[in-house]
Amino acid sequence: MADDQVLTDMLTMLDRSPEVLALRVCVIELLIERERYADALAHCGTALGHEPGNAQVLALMMRCTTVLSGGSPAQAATSVAAPATSASGSAAAPSAAQPDFDWAAAEDEVGDIIEPAFVHGVPTEFVTDDDAATVARPTLRLADVGGMVEVKQQLDLTLLGPLRNPELAKAFGTSARGGLLLYGPPGCGKTFLASAVAGELGANFYPIEITDILDIYTGASERNVHSIFEMARRNAPCVLFLDEVDALGHKRSQMQASTTMRTVVNQLLTEMDSATHSNEGVFVLGATNHPWDVDVALRRPGRFDRMIFVGLPDLAARTSILHYHLRDRPVAGIDLNALAAHTDGLSGADLAHVCTSATQLAMADSMRSGEVRPIGMADVRAALAQTRPSTGAWFESARNVVEFANGDGSYDELATYLRRMKRR
Ligand SMILES: Nc1ncnc2c1ncn2[C@@H]1O[C@H](COP(=O)(O)OP(=O)(O)O)[C@@H](O)[C@H]1O
Ligand SMILES: [Mg+2]
Repeated sequence: MADDQVLTDMLTMLDRSPEVLALRVCVIELLIERERYADALAHCGTALGHEPGNAQVLALMMRCTTVLSGGSPAQAATSVAAPATSASGSAAAPSAAQPDFDWAAAEDEVGDIIEPAFVHGVPTEFVTDDDAATVARPTLRLADVGGMVEVKQQLDLTLLGPLRNPELAKAFGTSARGGLLLYGPPGCGKTFLASAVAGELGANFYPIEITDILDIYTGASERNVHSIFEMARRNAPCVLFLDEVDALGHKRSQMQASTTMRTVVNQLLTEMDSATHSNEGVFVLGATNHPWDVDVALRRPGRFDRMIFVGLPDLAARTSILHYHLRDRPVAGIDLNALAAHTDGLSGADLAHVCTSATQLAMADSMRSGEVRPIGMADVRAALAQTRPSTGAWFESARNVVEFANGDGSYDELATYLRRMKRR
């Protein structure tokens, strides 16, 4: 049959280029047309293995699961807006996520078939990805950041409050000038919080990784720094987020590298200095996992003179993070609160890893048995059993710093946190 020739040809092509997502999406669609739902589902699994969370594949997957769990194909097709890619249109962008995909409607449709995803309700907080490459206006607000009450209070006191009430701040002799440095173990929400601060201020968010501006060989770093600040000024109000600030302060032995660093640090100081530049509406937020490596010149008054510690996610933060990472995946009977209670000590990044592993376990099981089942508590528990906190080494350094290098009290907040942690 000519039809099947198409499928055979597509499968041959896919065999040759298994990583091309657009090809696999076509194959999935052809298989669905032929009502070969289990085969289609297996390809969905492979596709998601290559690109977890791809909305188009998830939509196709839901169509398959709907039919395989007893729904009619018609119901499946109407419940989920079928991606428009056709066999002939295989050039469709591979990662074309469907922004207009109606998850709520899809969920309503499959509501009777699949058990409720979260058994204890869903927290109101949610998170968004923090991968904006250039200046953008984030919609994220501090209220979207789960838990972390103390951090939010400090941000309010040191930055948001003075900005909202400039007269009052002046009366108390405080101001939001200079920069604020967020520090703490990796993967615990510094970038996420910075973006929420921008959202809170209704400002643009301009994230920069310091390593990206270090141009050791051409000596262009200085100019890079200047043009970054110019960009921020043009887009004011703007939160300029400098990530990995410690990259500038590493006590490197390489002469050439350290000369470059020095020039960049100086340029940064000049740009941050309100006497030389009008930084009206530009708020510099820095982040680092290793504040003890940050160049001392950058820590002086008017620069990154205030530090806020961002520790491991607390219970509410973990609930929020788990919800975020599972919300686009087929889940059933997940008790978020119970999971969050059992994940003390894991970072946001660790929790993301747990969710991915759980998904893979459920998928592998479905493929093995030929029977589709959503991700359940058992999968997440199994994934948890395989996950160790990734922040162990960080806390070891932190303990040393607190013990041997906290003469000026810079790390008192961290010290308190470590003491509390020990007591738990
Ligand atoms: N309190 C929180 N509420 C919701 N999500 C969070 C929270 N803290 C961290 N996350 C999530 O955890 C992940 C890691 O956070 P990130 O900001 O990249 O960490 P860092 O910048 O500290 O390395 C992100 O996906 C972020 O969305
Ligand atoms: Mg970060």
